[in-house]
Amino acid sequence: MNLSVQQELAILAQALGRLESGFQHLPGAPGQRRSVSGDQGKTGRVGVTGGGADPSGALSEVLDEVALRLRDNYPYFHPLYAGQMLKPPHPVARLAYNLAQTINPNNHALDGGRASSAMEKEAVAQLAAVFDWSEHLGHLTSGGTVANLEALWVAGKLTPGKTVLASSQAHYTHSRVSDVLQLPFESVTADSNGRMDTSALEARLQRGDVGTVVASVGTTGFGAVDPLPDILRLRQQYGFRLHADAAYGGYFRLVEGLDVETARSLASLDSVDSIVIDPHKHGLQPYGCGAVLFADPSVGALYQHESPYTYFSSDSLHLGEISLECSRAGAAAVALWATQQLLPLETGGAFAAGLGRSIAAARQLHEKLAGDSRFLTLMSPELDIVVWAPAASSASEISAGARSHFAAAAERHLHLALIEVEADMLRAHWADVDFSDAETVTCLRSCLVKPEHLDWLDDIWAILVEVAVATGTT
Ligand SMILES: Cc1ncc(COP(=O)(O)O)c(C=O)c1O
Repeated sequence: MNLSVQQELAILAQALGRLESGFQHLPGAPGQRRSVSGDQGKTGRVGVTGGGADPSGALSEVLDEVALRLRDNYPYFHPLYAGQMLKPPHPVARLAYNLAQTINPNNHALDGGRASSAMEKEAVAQLAAVFDWSEHLGHLTSGGTVANLEALWVAGKLTPGKTVLASSQAHYTHSRVSDVLQLPFESVTADSNGRMDTSALEARLQRGDVGTVVASVGTTGFGAVDPLPDILRLRQQYGFRLHADAAYGGYFRLVEGLDVETARSLASLDSVDSIVIDPHKHGLQPYGCGAVLFADPSVGALYQHESPYTYFSSDSLHLGEISLECSRAGAAAVALWATQQLLPLETGGAFAAGLGRSIAAARQLHEKLAGDSRFLTLMSPELDIVVWAPAASSASEISAGARSHFAAAAERHLHLALIEVEADMLRAHWADVDFSDAETVTCLRSCLVKPEHLDWLDDIWAILVEVAVATGTT
């Protein structure tokens, strides 16, 4: 959706007026209160906006300075920013967030965020429906790390002292969070496609004492999806808790036309025990919005605690009763709810179409790179992340070349990312490269997270070719 900032502000002003009018019964200034019913005063302006004009201009000055400071950033919103997994929030999310934070609800308890807690429960139920979970327990978190922490905390409570396994390509948060929770952690080899090697997993399971396996559904490095159907078969045989870190890839379950194996893994997500999915990655939300979902609502009992000062306003569920974090931005829930109203989480819907465009962009970029001898490629992307390198004969030359391409692309306003890849993984793809001089190789990485990346692909490709020429890559 292309709205100018001015158009967005006009819509926001209108909605703010509507919000303010809900508080008009409050006195606008001290001494105006007259009676309990009827006309009690002027407006609720003080309560809602908490501000007033800026007679000295000091506020404007500070904001001006903020704007200047913020210019020191990569242009994350622009399609020529094609580096890390940074996706601009949808205008509806930005506006709803702004609207909500004028009253700044706190979704810890209904006392602090009645409407926004209800919206969170609805929005989370819609997320759970993506995985066909009508029964579930879940809530939003400040991000994927805390969401995974909760999933592993629950897993550790149910399988005390037992080992957590995740692939060597899983996000580093799993080993660190296991450390925080004092759970033993081991990593399982990944195959040359960046997916968990299920033979290695089975060999480890045979040795026993495994409580939880974490399957990555969309790894951070490659967007690889661990083979869930095979892992589920192993669960039947060996018995363990299965957690899916779908922080990045979960939403792709709504997309048609994925590779067969990727589609099978995403389709199997309904059979796992817990899922993390991050609305602030592919769900068009501002940062501060992750989510954890549990298939069995009875795990809620593990969260039980008493609070003498919080949960008094309602017998309904306060979200703080089922979450490890206490204060959380109610505005994040409101923004997610609003986004899912405008763009329902449906297969074949506009939201899914946007994700499909990202995959199409990644496939096109991979094909162009694979068809050009100046570049070395790996497997075709499962989701929307592409990894490649400039051609050279040795590992160290490739790494140096990748750094030069990265810098030369940035000079042309195309911003990419770098990734350090184990030589062992690359050997299967680059048979002619001499890996004797390094154990890891620096490669280029691009997360084509914005639907507009597809429209800009020819421009992106033109810059990559120009960079290859400028750096003398042959
Ligand atoms: C697969 C995966 N899991 C977890 C995380 C951590 O999420 P967050 O950065 O929201 O804490 C990330 C972040 O990139 C991720 O890609």
